Amino acid sequence: MTPRAISGNTLLCLIIGDPIAHSLTPAMHNSAYDAANLNYCMAAAKVSRDDLSKAVGGIRALSIRGVAVTMPHKVSICPMLDALDPVAKTIGAVNTVVNAEGSLTGYNTDWLGIIRPLEKRMTLSGAHIAVLGAGGAAQAAVYACAQSGANVTIFNRTSSKAQLLANRHTAHWEELTASPDMSRFDVIINTTSVGMGDLKGRSPIPGAVFKEHQIIFETIYSPRETQLVKDGLLQGCSIITGEEMFLEQGAAQFELHTGRQAPRLAMKSLLDANAVKTT
Ligand code: ATR
Repeated sequence: MTPRAISGNTLLCLIIGDPIAHSLTPAMHNSAYDAANLNYCMAAAKVSRDDLSKAVGGIRALSIRGVAVTMPHKVSICPMLDALDPVAKTIGAVNTVVNAEGSLTGYNTDWLGIIRPLEKRMTLSGAHIAVLGAGGAAQAAVYACAQSGANVTIFNRTSSKAQLLANRHTAHWEELTASPDMSRFDVIINTTSVGMGDLKGRSPIPGAVFKEHQIIFETIYSPRETQLVKDGLLQGCSIITGEEMFLEQGAAQFELHTGRQAPRLAMKSLLDANAVKTT
């Protein structure tokens, strides 16, 4: 593997969001460009809500090849683009933009980060899946599972948000209580923010409700082992970590930006090295 030399021909990609300094996306994509020997480079740009439309103009003006979009812009960027992929339109959120000679198309690869790890382990059609949370991450999770024929129930602290999301995707909903009955589910996906930031060390539901046969899917990737993951391991459940989801959505994003197959091993090595540094 030869390290890339940035030159006049280097194609530029960006991740935009606020906050953005913590993001592992540039490091993961740059390691993938190195492994695939591509003359690309990704940097991070902090873009406030108020500056989003100027930033979208900048993507066109500066011929930025591809953009990764993160909080808080995934929904508000949609009407600023020239076209939306049908899946991004249905989910109502974009995490990837491709610039084809000034025409910007928005895609959503977050749902692939949900579906691909699950499909490796089970048949989704007819499965019973609980999605904890009804925010941005839940949109992609509910879409992913519902379109695969799974029976989805959304649990959220604020019932009205669960109800809205359930109606959009023909799912069921319940209020998230302190100790909900989870026994009928094959998979429990956490899309709430409980377990990260100020809520690090906490879990949205007690580990005692897990059953050994269940798959516990955490969408938080930092910390690597949330309380929910620890509880799932303790109960003998199978675990899908947020890192696996992060890798899959990023691999699909790389493929849209470059048209090449993603070097998953290199991307995973970068995440492993980072986890060693931060734990
Ligand atoms: P994201 O886009 O990352 O999903 P979000 O849209 O802010 O972020 O959604 C956060 C989710 O975590 C929501 O479902 C939120 O529940 P509410 O809709 O009731 O706000 C959930 N959440 C955040 N803090 C929580 C807590 N302490 N207990 C339970 N759920 C919580």
